[in-house]
Amino acid sequence: MIFKFTEENIKRIETARKKYPTALAAVMDTIYIAQEQNGFISNEVMEEIASVLGIDKVNVLSVVTFYTMYHTKPMGKYHVQVCTNVSCMLRGAYEIWDGVKDKLGLDHMKVSPDGKYSLEEVECMGACGYAPMIAVNEDYFENLNKEKVFEILDSLK
Ligand code: FES
Repeated sequence: MIFKFTEENIKRIETARKKYPTALAAVMDTIYIAQEQNGFISNEVMEEIASVLGIDKVNVLSVVTFYTMYHTKPMGKYHVQVCTNVSCMLRGAYEIWDGVKDKLGLDHMKVSPDGKYSLEEVECMGACGYAPMIAVNEDYFENLNKEKVFEILDSLK
């Protein structure tokens, strides 16, 4: 399926491009915008990013596949990320992780059949001082325990 950036997103990419000395350096911003528009980064999306920036597709592919925040397949409406790295682990992250897996009936990088939830076990998200934490899409929730996490999940419509 052909992917084209919206006019508004082309303007955002042009603005991002001006922040960097080279087009290649703007690749992460551009992938982020693409994922916002499309939900995930397909082969066609990578081709469009490469075309818009005038870079090789392999440069897009290498960044997309290196960073876990970029998805190459559709995720759920609510992408739940549970950090189990050291600080969070020491403060109960695995109890949260196991609880969320059970509650949603999902495992790492799986999507619910209705497309509402997806689940990901993630490395440190830079909120160690407030461990344990989860993120739902781009919102962080911190100083959690399993019960608080369940309340958050129950509040998602
Ligand atoms: S270890 Fe979980 S946010 Fe850093």
